[in-house]
Amino acid sequence: MRLTPPSSTQKGLLQTDQLYEYILKTSVYPREPELLKEIRDLSSTHPRSFMVTSPDAGQFMALILKLINAKKTIEIGIFTGYSLLLTALAIPDDGKITAIDIDRSTYDMIGLPVIKKAGLTHKINFIESAALPVLEQLLQDPENHESFDFAFVDADKNNYANYHEKLLKLLKPGGIIMYDNTLWGGTVVMAAEFVPPAWSEMRVHVIEFNRNLAADSRVEISQLPLGDGLTMCRRL
Ligand SMILES: C[S@@+](CC[C@H](N)C(=O)[O-])C[C@H]1O[C@@H](n2cnc3c(N)ncnc32)[C@H](O)[C@@H]1O
Repeated sequence: MRLTPPSSTQKGLLQTDQLYEYILKTSVYPREPELLKEIRDLSSTHPRSFMVTSPDAGQFMALILKLINAKKTIEIGIFTGYSLLLTALAIPDDGKITAIDIDRSTYDMIGLPVIKKAGLTHKINFIESAALPVLEQLLQDPENHESFDFAFVDADKNNYANYHEKLLKLLKPGGIIMYDNTLWGGTVVMAAEFVPPAWSEMRVHVIEFNRNLAADSRVEISQLPLGDGLTMCRRL
């Protein structure tokens, strides 16, 4: 998701809004698949449209999914289904996505009709639930251990550390996890007194998560300034 940054960082994570527009117009939008654009456009009228994964981060994820030949993936946080569709488009026809969201109503309303039109529903196992119990349930079956190629996490930031522990067990060595919103609108570098209240609670979790991830010897990482900050982890 690309959140609207607080006023003191209105220019986002890049130096200017124009620079971000330039990236979108030059490299991202012209190559964005039509059906993905359809979900983005339909989502734009939703009051929480800011939650949709940024198209630049999405483009990068699609490239990584193809580079690693991802076939079995897991996604936490679906909302309208933008990142879900880009994943379904990137994996092979016999690929499978375990898609988890605590509330499937926006997906049913906005994303699902487009994904049906794309003929991609067979790749998606949507589970409407809080994510943590689903990960715990998956781990009860030894066949799921070290079986996933890729995971995308874009949900409740206070649980990222919990998701990380479970996902490391579910992921194959060499598998990739992407965490969205790891720069939290730029607030990770703000003095606490300037952070708007709506951002402050999760900011603490994001800062702690980033610090722990940097010290985690079980993964290689790269903090990417795409969208609202995307951290890529490779399980060792
Ligand atoms: C930022 S949105 C996901 C955006 C999505 N990746 C996209 O491209 O549109 C976050 C989603 O996480 C879901 N969510 C929040 N807490 C959750 C939890 N504990 N378990 C599962 N899903 C959760 C919300 O319902 C919401 O749809």
